[in-house]
Amino acid sequence: MQVLTESLQLNRDGALHHLLSTEGLPRPLIERILTTADGFIAVGTREVKSVPLLRGRSVFNLFFENSTRTRTTFEIASKRLSADVYNLNIAASSTAKGESLLDTIDNLTAMQADIFVVRHSQGGAPYLIARHLAPHVHVVNAGDGRHAHPTQALLDLYTIRHYKGAFPSLSVAVVGDILNSRVARSDIHALLAMGVTDLRAVGPLTLLPTGLEQMGVRVCTRLEEGIRNADVIIMLRLQSERMRGALLPSAQEYFRNYGLTPQALRHAKPDCIVMHPGPMNRGVEIDSTVADGPHSVILPQVSFGIAVRMAVLSMVASSQRSGSHRAEAAAPGSTVPHARANAGESTARLG
Ligand code: CP
Repeated sequence: MQVLTESLQLNRDGALHHLLSTEGLPRPLIERILTTADGFIAVGTREVKSVPLLRGRSVFNLFFENSTRTRTTFEIASKRLSADVYNLNIAASSTAKGESLLDTIDNLTAMQADIFVVRHSQGGAPYLIARHLAPHVHVVNAGDGRHAHPTQALLDLYTIRHYKGAFPSLSVAVVGDILNSRVARSDIHALLAMGVTDLRAVGPLTLLPTGLEQMGVRVCTRLEEGIRNADVIIMLRLQSERMRGALLPSAQEYFRNYGLTPQALRHAKPDCIVMHPGPMNRGVEIDSTVADGPHSVILPQVSFGIAVRMAVLSMVASSQRSGSHRAEAAAPGSTVPHARANAGESTARLG
């Protein structure tokens, strides 16, 4: 399946029309998403947790793969924006009878869908949909195969900015099954776009893709070295469902060498934060003492995900493919001007 250039995401004015990947997203646009999310954080603390920005719009959640956090927080985000939300039950849908993805999309578009939130096991599926859609309909990638999980990366950036501030001075370690992780791909592109210069990919050689060094990422095969003096540690789940063949001797041996324990954590900065996109394999990539300990910001990541997804939904809904915008869906309290950056054309690819 061909993956189109990043510019498919942006309209002529550089506004977000679809969100497919963090690769090629210009830094000013990422900053605008984060600042727009700032304005939505307060909505979750109000007695009435909604704003009318997407009233009358229909958001269809199409999750062809399992999800707890992403599907639920997209639903909450859509409802807080006052959209009408429809969760397609894939197992009970006509997909089970062999209906094609694009036929499903056409039929839901005929039901006046405005935004599709799509998770699919096939990398590139959201791109296929984006190329197929009418100009007034939008798609947000909620995770496609091993390729990308852009809203996870954006909420990760939001979490890092919340706890650590400016990105360029930070040391960030991404640890674990980078080869099979769409979160790692999206995080790496997003962190590099935000100016992180000390970015490390840590794991056994069998789980590290080629091409990382060319992107400016330091590759470490020893955990202690990889997390030494780190400000931020992003742990990844072993994606056993995406592994082809035996890449590891055993989960026990993996934990011995790469599991984040209190002892290993002593190599990082004393005030480092520990992140994980979930779902966690306790005792495989992370010790429960660390997952539930004072350095962990794993549950705040989930909470921030609602505001970040509200920002993304409101921004795509306010863009037009032609470049002539509807009234801008500014978040309450947002004062950041409209980003006008052009679509960056990144050539760096993970192997
Ligand atoms: N982080 C993440 O994508 O979790 P879910 O699979 O539960 O959505």
